[in-house]
Amino acid sequence: MLDLVRLSDLDIKGKRVLIREDLNVPLKDGRVASNARVKAVLPTIEYVVSKGAKVILMSHLGRPTEGISIERQREFSLAPVARELSNLGSLRVRLEPNYLNGFEFEDNEIVLLENVRVNAGEKSNDDNLARKLAILCDVYVMDAFATSHRAHASTEGVARYAPIACAGPLLLKELKALEEARHNPAKPVIAIVGGSKVSTKLSILSALSQQVDGLIVGGGIANTFLAASGKQIGKSLFEPEMEDIAKKILEEDRICLPVDVLVSSSLEDSTKNVVKDVDEISPEDRILDIGPLSISKNREWLKGAKTIIWNGPLGVFEIPDFSRGTSELAASIKESDAFSLAGGGDTLAAIEKFGGADGISYVSTGGGAFLELLEGKALPAVLALERQ
Ligand code: 3PG
Repeated sequence: MLDLVRLSDLDIKGKRVLIREDLNVPLKDGRVASNARVKAVLPTIEYVVSKGAKVILMSHLGRPTEGISIERQREFSLAPVARELSNLGSLRVRLEPNYLNGFEFEDNEIVLLENVRVNAGEKSNDDNLARKLAILCDVYVMDAFATSHRAHASTEGVARYAPIACAGPLLLKELKALEEARHNPAKPVIAIVGGSKVSTKLSILSALSQQVDGLIVGGGIANTFLAASGKQIGKSLFEPEMEDIAKKILEEDRICLPVDVLVSSSLEDSTKNVVKDVDEISPEDRILDIGPLSISKNREWLKGAKTIIWNGPLGVFEIPDFSRGTSELAASIKESDAFSLAGGGDTLAAIEKFGGADGISYVSTGGGAFLELLEGKALPAVLALERQ
């Protein structure tokens, strides 16, 4: 493990402590739909408060347009997260929309900065933006393991300009657990990767597919593989520009693709839901879950596994009609004797929905970061914390 400056090594009494967390949680009707990532950050906040320091939190939420004010894209506001933090931790959390040129701080309040991804220059890791963030604090704490694979101004740049930059307890816990799992995992290793972030994950899969013994795919990832293997996928979520990468991965012959799927032409009207063989999909269909044969096939693949890695749902699991592929997968993982690792925002929400984490060996807050670390990639926001 890298030699990192740790929050626990520092005397932070009376200091302004800026903590980067990953509070990128699913929302529904203006409320937090799964609070696993919110719960995960509470120990860090409580620690900093207990040491007599002032807490400033920052996070992104979703993928808003940079440079456009939050008033014009309210669906990306962290307001529901501020409320959830206040409710869960009995903390007084205030959401601060205008902070780049400083802001007032009251005693005993925790300030959550509004979504950092609306700031122009966040994703390009702009130096000026990183400096403006760094100036807000005496100590910068990187605790957002789930965003540590992004070299953004609020994750990597700020660490270079802050007076002191250190690793927070959640980040350290995740790095330790996943590094241990990465070295000499019991074989065979089966990974399951689903979800909708096709471009992020497919690039990771090219490398990961060579390290695992089998790769089960679902969601938008599976649709892209089906399209790359010449199947009609109708109006299903997929990314055509990723088809070439998908074709290359398919050549390795380690991929478990769905053989049947649940399609519908409407998310609301369940009379339109039909199970179809992957060769029978029509141009009007939308794939929303895997079918029963694919569920059995996945179960067979998982039977012999000694290590299971799971990131991303296999269908639109938030809607009961399209949740079976993911709920059955969660059940198979829990029944298995294999060492199992699961991670990612939607995966956490699915685990919570389908009976909790009992039976899963380690649950990580990270999705893309979790896959990149397991693949052996360096995480830029962690490298920036290395002791000089
Ligand atoms: C995640 O959910 O994996 C992290 O919050 C990172 O989100 P991103 O893929 O939009 O950078």
